[in-house]
Amino acid sequence: EEPYFDVALALEKVHTYSLVHDDLPAMDDDDLRRNQPTVHKQFNEWLAILAGDALLTDAFYDLTQCVALSGEKRAQLIAILALKAGSKGMVLGQTYDMAGEHQEASFETLKTIHQHKTANLIEASLMMGAVIAATKEQAHWETIGHHLGMIFQIQDDLLEHTSDEATLGKSKTDTRKQKQTYVSVLGLEPAQEALREHILSIHETVKKLSVDPTPFLQLLDDILARTH
Ligand code: IPE
Ligand code: MG
Ligand code: MG
Repeated sequence: EEPYFDVALALEKVHTYSLVHDDLPAMDDDDLRRNQPTVHKQFNEWLAILAGDALLTDAFYDLTQCVALSGEKRAQLIAILALKAGSKGMVLGQTYDMAGEHQEASFETLKTIHQHKTANLIEASLMMGAVIAATKEQAHWETIGHHLGMIFQIQDDLLEHTSDEATLGKSKTDTRKQKQTYVSVLGLEPAQEALREHILSIHETVKKLSVDPTPFLQLLDDILARTH
């Protein structure tokens, strides 16, 4: 019924693995995620490590199993996800994020962290949609994914500053761990301004698409309205 379900599942598994590992004591050391105890709290550390390993590995298996797509397209999806999640993508961003704890970052460094740890996986998901749709506009979707990812993470930084753990459903780590965030590096107002600039960039980029961007812009509005 849902021909591309395996692809969505693969993305969700990579995303979930990244959060399970991100919450571990060796990384952000968080107790709460999605209003529940984090995996290592609810079970234990070795199980959280292995759960992450399993999710990451199984994601790529899922991509090989999408019978609605040709073998060539499955290979393209695997390549995009591997590149955007791996040592040049999300994992690199997580490395910079961890290395940057307790020290001042330049705005350039901060952008690099956010681009990799958050935007790269969102770029991957839109680029993978472009592969499935057989559009030649994959590069535009990558640009849109970049801005959407930056929006998501700047919002995350703003919410950490303006909201509370009960509303967020997750621990507030940025202050405790002295993480580099848009609010800590730029201040509140400039962070909000940066958010607006990325929204404008998305509106500029969707004009270049040959498809009707309305459903996507609805999704953007939903993301902008999030409170947690
Ligand atoms: C998590 O970033 C990003 C990845 C897991 C790739 P953060 O550490 O900033 O996010 P939260 O606050 O734990 O959700
Ligand atoms: Mg983190
Ligand atoms: Mg975290």
